[in-house]
Amino acid sequence: MLTPFTALIVGGTSGIGLATARQLVTLGGNVHVAGRSAEKLGQLAADNPTLVGHQVDGGDRAEVGLLAASIAPIDALVVTLSGAEGIGPLADLDLAMLRRAFEAKFWAHLTTIQAALPHLAENGSITLVSAISARASMPGTAGVGAINAAVEGLIKPLAVELAPIRVNAVSPGLVDTPWWNGKPEANTRAYFAAAAKMLPARQIASADDIAQAIVLLATNPNITGTIIESDAGARLVSI
Ligand SMILES: NC(=O)c1ccc[n+]([C@@H]2O[C@H](COP(=O)([O-])OP(=O)(O)OC[C@H]3O[C@@H](n4cnc5c(N)ncnc54)[C@H](OP(=O)(O)O)[C@@H]3O)[C@@H](O)[C@H]2O)c1
Repeated sequence: MLTPFTALIVGGTSGIGLATARQLVTLGGNVHVAGRSAEKLGQLAADNPTLVGHQVDGGDRAEVGLLAASIAPIDALVVTLSGAEGIGPLADLDLAMLRRAFEAKFWAHLTTIQAALPHLAENGSITLVSAISARASMPGTAGVGAINAAVEGLIKPLAVELAPIRVNAVSPGLVDTPWWNGKPEANTRAYFAAAAKMLPARQIASADDIAQAIVLLATNPNITGTIIESDAGARLVSI
């Protein structure tokens, strides 16, 4: 990718998206990040003055389209947004909740991609983030696994359909980000400590670990139709 390049990270005000934004800046990118919360955008402006924040909902086609048009051509579109719902045993799973979770991740991804597509550079890239749940067999994850499998199902067909735009994804395992903030902190720490002992790589990923894989996919001109598993080997064991 030539420098300077333009990157848009939808879901980039926190966690994996924010780490990706910071890494892309160090490579010479003009990096725009989009998120919904004004509070997170305020924090972003204070902590990361080199990033350009936008209050945009990735599930809103008009908002994403306006933003994308204003910064076009976009060399790297990265989508890291999601909700945190969708987990639970199928027998009791609240299907209205699962529909919300699909809306928050899968449909918001499709909306963002459709809205930004006319504004991508001819040789640009799209990088998505799925999750281990699409590939593992953990009880209680059928719903969220289906959402992430739907995201992964986009990769290969779009890599051919949208060529020469490249389309890839990263499949993370457990990542220590604010995504876990909705759960009791002590439970999360205990779960992470127990899981790290079981994982072949013996660690819980940082947001930067996942961002490195995203940056590779976004910048390497030879990779398309690929899903990188950056999961500490989580898909190989029971956690
Ligand atoms: N953390 C993990 O263990 C883990 C594991 C596997 C996969 N993942 C996946 O990795 C991706 C990134 O997660 P993360 O851990 O970095 O979570 P995070 O720290 O909660 O970050 C998610 C970001 O997305 C934004 N966002 C959510 N919905 C949005 C929307 N409709 N439009 C625009 N921005 C939106 C959030 O800001 P606003 O709420 O202000 O919009 C936030 O900046 C997600 O797809 C998640 O499913 C995470």
